[in-house]
Amino acid sequence: MNQSTPPPKNIVLIGFMGCGKSTVGRELHQRLGYPLVDMDQTIEERAGKPITAIFADEGEAAFRDMETALLHELNDPTAPRRIISTGGGVIGREENRALLQQLGYVVWLHAPVHVILARTAKNFSRPLLQTEDRAAKISALMEERQPLYEQTAHLKLDTAGLCFNEVATGILECARYFFTHQP
Ligand code: S3P
Repeated sequence: MNQSTPPPKNIVLIGFMGCGKSTVGRELHQRLGYPLVDMDQTIEERAGKPITAIFADEGEAAFRDMETALLHELNDPTAPRRIISTGGGVIGREENRALLQQLGYVVWLHAPVHVILARTAKNFSRPLLQTEDRAAKISALMEERQPLYEQTAHLKLDTAGLCFNEVATGILECARYFFTHQP
């Protein structure tokens, strides 16, 4: 980034499926007035079909390419500040992890497996969870992804037992500190 360009002040939400990224994203959008980019929603709108259909028709790799392309697009220092809510697997690629950190303050919304299991139980829009043993799938993915969330995030927030309002308040306090102490 050019020396004279101020660092981006987006708030970027990462974390496992069902951890509340979209809901907390909407709450932050309402409180701050920054535009909200829900990456899954943007990808669905552009593809003209739901994520389950993208996975079924074009495969997971094509969806991952769409995520990376969107991150590049969002990484525009001249764009207004935004709240960016990501899909749970966005941290899989090293390229994406670097882009996420360049985008601004990265917050990992963490929740334990049993909470994720309960929150995703009645939702069939997630192709990776269309499996018989969802608990085993969630545990395996979680184990694989945990270190990647950890190395990408500036802040880890444990959301278990907190309502989305409280999560949003916690993020805003920490983000304010982060942005005012940036070089
Ligand atoms: C995915 C999470 C989903 C969506 C896609 C893949 C993942 O987003 O991007 O189904 O790999 O964890 P949410 O985390 O918003 O459910």
